[in-house]
Amino acid sequence: SLLSSSLLMPSSFLRFMCANDWMNLLIKTQYVSDEVRMWVFEEVLPNGEKLTDVINKTNENANYLPGIKLGRNVVADPELENAVKEANMLVFVTPHQFMDGICKKLKGKIKGEVEAISLVKGMEVKKEGPCMISNLISKELGINCSVLMGANIANEIAVEKFSEATVGYRESREIADTWVQLFSTPYFMVTPVRDVEGVELCGTLKNVVAIAAGFVDGLEMGNNTKASSSNEVLSAAIMRIGLREMKALSKLLFPSVKDSTFFESCGVADVITTCLGGRNRRVAEAFAQSGGKRSFDELEAEMLEGQKLQGVSTAKELYEALNHRGWMEMFPLFSTVHQICIGRLKPDAIVNYRNFGPNPK
Ligand code: 13P
Repeated sequence: SLLSSSLLMPSSFLRFMCANDWMNLLIKTQYVSDEVRMWVFEEVLPNGEKLTDVINKTNENANYLPGIKLGRNVVADPELENAVKEANMLVFVTPHQFMDGICKKLKGKIKGEVEAISLVKGMEVKKEGPCMISNLISKELGINCSVLMGANIANEIAVEKFSEATVGYRESREIADTWVQLFSTPYFMVTPVRDVEGVELCGTLKNVVAIAAGFVDGLEMGNNTKASSSNEVLSAAIMRIGLREMKALSKLLFPSVKDSTFFESCGVADVITTCLGGRNRRVAEAFAQSGGKRSFDELEAEMLEGQKLQGVSTAKELYEALNHRGWMEMFPLFSTVHQICIGRLKPDAIVNYRNFGPNPK
């Protein structure tokens, strides 16, 4: 059947989705119509032109991804409801902070029989505990939602460098295979895993680990401190301890989470990628270099040119969730990151190895 699809993302997140072949592949498959509607948060450029007009005229996002041509079938649309009204497949790629509002706006506006996939890394903290974004989409919109996460950096996908990703799916392998087929290119290898929560928690929690890695870099403790747990090589320990906390928390929250998920692209590979090359790491490094004197908001505005960091707000949400459940002491890395971010602890608290006791149960 011929389906149409929509991408829901603000323009700043176009980076992730822009690879030409990726878009071209969408139109080659039997699953989608020629047109991919892409919701873009409207901005007026310094020359007075609207960003959506520029994208539609030049096939290029002059603001966030200059020099990269989007597929001609991609139509930027500033109206959220209009962007989704014909869609049978929805791809969510927005900063997680906006997802609650977006879902509320979409309620009752989408067609029946819609499949969704979320590339959004983060969680909503509700009274009853953390709610993963795929769950928020499913609950608010009454549709099935898979996830795609993994070791990839947007700018590198855009220039077609090889990378991998993991699709987390709930029940239907057929749906997972459809997403795999839609996203795969010769340079973007996608593997399906039947573990939505595990894949999504990996993508979400690793951003907090990357903030910790950035702190360590900002303190100039050297590379050794980022793959062993010994005293001399504390920075290498950040990744190991972070991965350990990611796995322990994921399994506590969702006992169905599989150990093997942590060996997929979304797990250990994404921890390494983001701790070495991500924006969370970069901004956290600058924060530590300033001795915690400059705020994350200020640094984000200065360094990311309109893009939004995910790790700092995730650390806050995580802290609230851990506090709520009385699990704080079991996750010292996660809780220390938040306390550094808000200035309660100094950046060098991240290397207080006495914080990082035995494995959380
Ligand atoms: P940053 O947001 O830190 O750049 O992380 C990129 C990422 O999510 C890689 O999977």
